[in-house]
Amino acid sequence: MEDLLQERIVVGDPHCPLDVLDVDRIRDDFPILHKRVHGNRLVYLDNAASSQKPASVIKGLSTYYEMQNANIHRGVHYLSGLATGLYEEARNKVRKFINARSEKEIIFTAGTTEAVNLVASTYGRKHVQEGDEIIVSAMEHHSNIVPWQLLCEQTGATLKVIPINERGELQLDEFEKMLSSRTKLVAIVHISNSLGTINPVEKIVEMAHAKDIPVLVDGAQSVVHGSIDVQALGCDFFAFSGHKMLGPTGIGVLYGRESLLDAMPPYQGGGDMIRYVSFDKTTYNDLPYKFEAGTPNIAGTIGLGYAIDYLESVGFAKIESHEMMLLNYAHEALTSIPQVRLIGTARQKASVVSFVIDEVHAHDVGTILDQNGIAIRTGHHCTQPVMDWFEVPATSRASFLFYNTKEEIDRLVEGIYGVINLFK
Ligand code: ALA
Repeated sequence: MEDLLQERIVVGDPHCPLDVLDVDRIRDDFPILHKRVHGNRLVYLDNAASSQKPASVIKGLSTYYEMQNANIHRGVHYLSGLATGLYEEARNKVRKFINARSEKEIIFTAGTTEAVNLVASTYGRKHVQEGDEIIVSAMEHHSNIVPWQLLCEQTGATLKVIPINERGELQLDEFEKMLSSRTKLVAIVHISNSLGTINPVEKIVEMAHAKDIPVLVDGAQSVVHGSIDVQALGCDFFAFSGHKMLGPTGIGVLYGRESLLDAMPPYQGGGDMIRYVSFDKTTYNDLPYKFEAGTPNIAGTIGLGYAIDYLESVGFAKIESHEMMLLNYAHEALTSIPQVRLIGTARQKASVVSFVIDEVHAHDVGTILDQNGIAIRTGHHCTQPVMDWFEVPATSRASFLFYNTKEEIDRLVEGIYGVINLFK
């Protein structure tokens, strides 16, 4: 432990707490935000696709490879012990970050997609049969649709879809009617990546649990916008990715209720997930290792821990109020442009703004804005059913994080006027 204390990266300055969100100072922590693109200062508004990384995370990754690199759980030598300690320390940070009861409930995966596939494959293999039903919603990301479709194809189960209204909110009365003894799992997104809707997950869990149905929450978009407490949410599984919350790509987390994880068969076979292997019989390791076959993404995991340190050093109270200010400012600005229509106007929304411009394809919007140094995402955002519901081929999406500013939204609005004028 003494070595760990010396070797880890310390994030934040405890002697200089921020009273309010000091965005200029925050932006100084993100080297890429000072970049120029096509001769303009970068305005990065594609955070729902991937967040930028603070210097502490970048430094943590390079320090790991320069000074700490070795395989984990396998060596008796100094570096292996050090890397193992840092890896397990990151697991502990994740546990505290989402308030899980135990580190056994924290499984490291490659990302949200793998976490959902893990549950579909293993929980599904054990519990889902022909005639059963899985419930998802009409606003899911493809990664919370296709794994369940695959499971349904394999088992003969049926996928049911909670409809949404014209604001992009779930119709909970319809959801209530869908729940039955055939329902084996509800898989629901916490914050929609294409609409920004914040779903009432606690309520959904309460409704499903009243019928003893477990709930998986796709938290890919939510972990970076507000504090998550899986015990308060009451969900049985919670999946998220590191790269959308200031961490590295290729690392994610599956939280699972211990009793459920314990009863699930392994996902992948390989090293570390076993206790004993023989050709007659193989026995499996305890949680969480049973689900972590092979050499994991050690650097990514440690980097995720530093991302959590950074988010905690800023504080979610300040993050939430700054992002709410940005969302309101952007909504007001965009609704004042007659040619712009917002897609997704839920009463509970995170800082994601999808829109279409009359007579202009979203890809043209994105390309022209890019020429001004403004990065947004355009397309279907891996939510084609949402596009179908709103009868649009694609949207333009600006997604903000706490390091964004009102001036950047002004640049976006200026850019949108530029697009409109060009296509007049
Ligand atoms: N899911 C990511 C997005 O919304 C990639 O852009």
